[in-house]
Amino acid sequence: MEKIFVGQLEELAPRMGKEVIIGKQKIAVFRLSDNRVKAIENVCPHKQGPLAEGTVSGEYVFCPLHDYKINLNDGQVHEPDEGCVRAYETIVEEDRVYVMV
Ligand code: FES
Repeated sequence: MEKIFVGQLEELAPRMGKEVIIGKQKIAVFRLSDNRVKAIENVCPHKQGPLAEGTVSGEYVFCPLHDYKINLNDGQVHEPDEGCVRAYETIVEEDRVYVMV
């Protein structure tokens, strides 16, 4: 695994997502209201919606296209919908945000 720098914490607006592209992987990085940072694949398992543009609520993001609710900790889609996206470990060190890829 590689630790990839994706930006400064203050560049991430709270409860908003940001897409970062690492190699061929599109990753949605989110700063939660308590300043923890989460990262999941930026491709909804339903119809490839851009999850970085979704609405964050607590530890979930709602897909902007059809409102699938996705857990930002493990990438699982909330029932009654199904599916999952890859979740990535994140590290914040001295306000520098990294994703483990
Ligand atoms: S593409 Fe995400 S819910 Fe349909």
